[in-house]
Formats: sequence, C-alpha cells, structure tokens
Amino acid sequence: MGKGMVWLVGAGPGDPGLLTVKALQVLQEAEVILYDRLVSEDVLKLANPAAEQIYVGKHEGEQQGRQEELLHLMLRLARDGRNVVRLKGGDPMVFGRGGEEWRFLQEHGVPVEVVPGVSSAIALPALAGIPLTYRGYSSGFAVVSGHCREGGEQDWSRYARAETLVVLMGVKERRWIARALLDLGRDPGEPVCFIEKGTTSEERVVETTLAAVARGEVEVLPPAVWVIGKVVALRQVLLLAQEGCHAR
Ligand SMILES: C[S@@+](CC[C@H](N)C(=O)[O-])C[C@H]1O[C@@H](n2cnc3c(N)ncnc32)[C@H](O)[C@@H]1O
Repeated sequence: MGKGMVWLVGAGPGDPGLLTVKALQVLQEAEVILYDRLVSEDVLKLANPAAEQIYVGKHEGEQQGRQEELLHLMLRLARDGRNVVRLKGGDPMVFGRGGEEWRFLQEHGVPVEVVPGVSSAIALPALAGIPLTYRGYSSGFAVVSGHCREGGEQDWSRYARAETLVVLMGVKERRWIARALLDLGRDPGEPVCFIEKGTTSEERVVETTLAAVARGEVEVLPPAVWVIGKVVALRQVLLLAQEGCHAR
C-alpha cells in the first residue's frame, strides 16, 4: 500500500463474507479508516486493529457541509503521509459519492485507488431469490435513487419502462414513487419486494404489489432495497426449489 494515498473501498452490504479479497487486504494494511453509516461492525472488526477508525456518516439535516469537511479531512490525512481507506457500504461508485471524492482528491494531487464492492442493488435481490434478469421475464434492469419528494424530483418516466426496477433510498417516498409508476402505466398487480437491512441479523423481506405500496399499506424501514418487476415472482419458485433440495 502506498503512503499518502486514499483507497476508495466498497464494504459490500454488511455480511463480511461479501467483502472482496482485495478489500480485506487493504483494510488490514490501513492506517486510517473513514467509514459510513452502512458499513457493518463485522466488517470493521476485520480491519488492522491499530488503524484509527473515524465515523464520517451523515446525520439527518447534515449534507453538503459535512461532505466538504470529509473531503478536507481526507486531503489532510493523505498529505500527512497516512494510508487512508475511505470505506463505503456496497460499491463506492453506486450512490456513494465515490466519483466526487475521487475527483476532488485527484484535483489536489492525491493518488487514489478504487476497490469495487458488492452493491446492495444486486446482491440483496440475489440473496432473496430474485434474479434481476431472467430469460422471458426481464432482459435488463435499472438502479434508481428514490431520494425525492412526493415522487417529484426524480423523472420517473425515464425509468418506468425498465423491466426490472431497483430503487435505493426509496423507503420514505415509496408511496409517491409507486403512484408515479402506476400513473406511467405500470401494472398495479406487479410484484414488488423490499429487502430491509439485508444480510444482517435483522433482515426482513416484504413481498407485495405495486398497488399496495401506492395505497400506503406496506410497512418498511430503511435501509431497504426495493425491487419492482415480474422477476420478483421467481422468488417463490427458486426458494421453494431450494427448500426441496434441502429436504432431499
Ligand atoms: C447511499 S445508498 C448507497 C448504496 C451503496 N453504495 C451500494 O452499492 O449498495 C444507500 C441505500 O442503499 C441500500 N442499502 C445499502 N445497504 C443495504 C442493506 N444492507 N440493506 C438494505 N438496503 C441497503 C438502501 O436502499 C440504502 O438507502
């Protein structure tokens, strides 16, 4: 590991078994680890015990100011010659501001290396028995941020026709998002699934329909990955098949 550089590392969705070998190696050589809210304690336990661990996650209402502070902290640590790991949940380039942090560091002459991570957008559906693509069901998927007010800020018409739609950060506005998708012509009976706190001991999987979400009938807590599309129906087939295998 080079001195005075920053590693942008993906920690995966929580289960340390989903860390990459490279991420583990970098964590074990780190001197300072700057980590987010969605990085699990089990992953942090695998890091170099001598490394300084600094929580840099955001709290409600803190946005841009905190990000500016973080950028300057990374810069200072790298210029002090430390090996810095910037550890983010899932993959650092999927709604993780990884690209922005990389750009800032590069503009200030700090070398950056990226270690991609297993994104919750792909891993959690797979673990719940939902293949995002499947012949005859879906030949593609879109991963979209649901971080919007009353379904409004995001232009859902750009994504509404994707055969499989994966929404991150969509719990709070789920009702408005579902309504926007129905207004754009999606089937009210379409199966949807929320995977809450995936890969943790508190994981909860909720299967329902788009119409039920639009009616405000579905209780979900963040963080959750929301999958919309016919592929959700495969969950029962695949999980039942798996139970059959275990029974044999
Ligand atoms: C700021 S985005 C970061 C995504 C992350 N970079 C990734 O690739 O998974 C945070 C959102 O990711 C999803 N998420 C991440 N980890 C999750 C988990 N363990 N369980 C459920 N949702 C998760 C949720 O939708 C959450 O609101």
